Amino acid sequence: MHPSDTTYGGVFYQSYPHLYHGPWNELFRYPDSSYPIEQLPSDLHAYHHYLKLLGPLHPRKKDLIPLIKKAMDGEYSAISCYKQLEHLAPTQKEKKIIHEIRKDEIRHLNTFSAIYTQLTGKKYDPKISEKCPNEYKSGLDFAFCDEQNTVDHYLDISAQTDNKYIKEQFTRAASDEQNHAVWFLYFLNRGISRS
Ligand SMILES: [Fe+2]
Ligand SMILES: [Fe+2]
Repeated sequence: MHPSDTTYGGVFYQSYPHLYHGPWNELFRYPDSSYPIEQLPSDLHAYHHYLKLLGPLHPRKKDLIPLIKKAMDGEYSAISCYKQLEHLAPTQKEKKIIHEIRKDEIRHLNTFSAIYTQLTGKKYDPKISEKCPNEYKSGLDFAFCDEQNTVDHYLDISAQTDNKYIKEQFTRAASDEQNHAVWFLYFLNRGISRS
């Protein structure tokens, strides 16, 4: 037994290896497990190291750049398309939900732009990658398929990086897109039952 190991109330507590003590908060751990619960660093500079945003660019991350650019083009196109869909929507409820979806896309674009700038030191001007149809029903159909494909694309990006921040942002965006897809499918079905 290591000198710093203790027992408390009959439970054996193994001391935390000194190797893992960082310059930030003491790490918590489960008494019954050797796996620590990671605690976020308390100061911003250390936090950026934790996110690996201050580290050198990993060679694999270079392959990520075109994928992030594609994601930004997709978000930019969706923002323009959903403005049109919001205008075409037949009910206030649908308009409101499409408006909220559009706000999510703006948030995604801002997040991805920030990631792109962190990785490359440059700013990217997104382009419209695909124009969306002018008619509501075919617009919904287009939006549904696009959201579904976007989920795959974001999960691919997330799987290709070991950067925790990028992983987390793309996984979150993927679940937003999945939620959007379900709304568009619901609107499509309602449109069919109305006609
Ligand atoms: Fe999005
Ligand atoms: Fe979306």
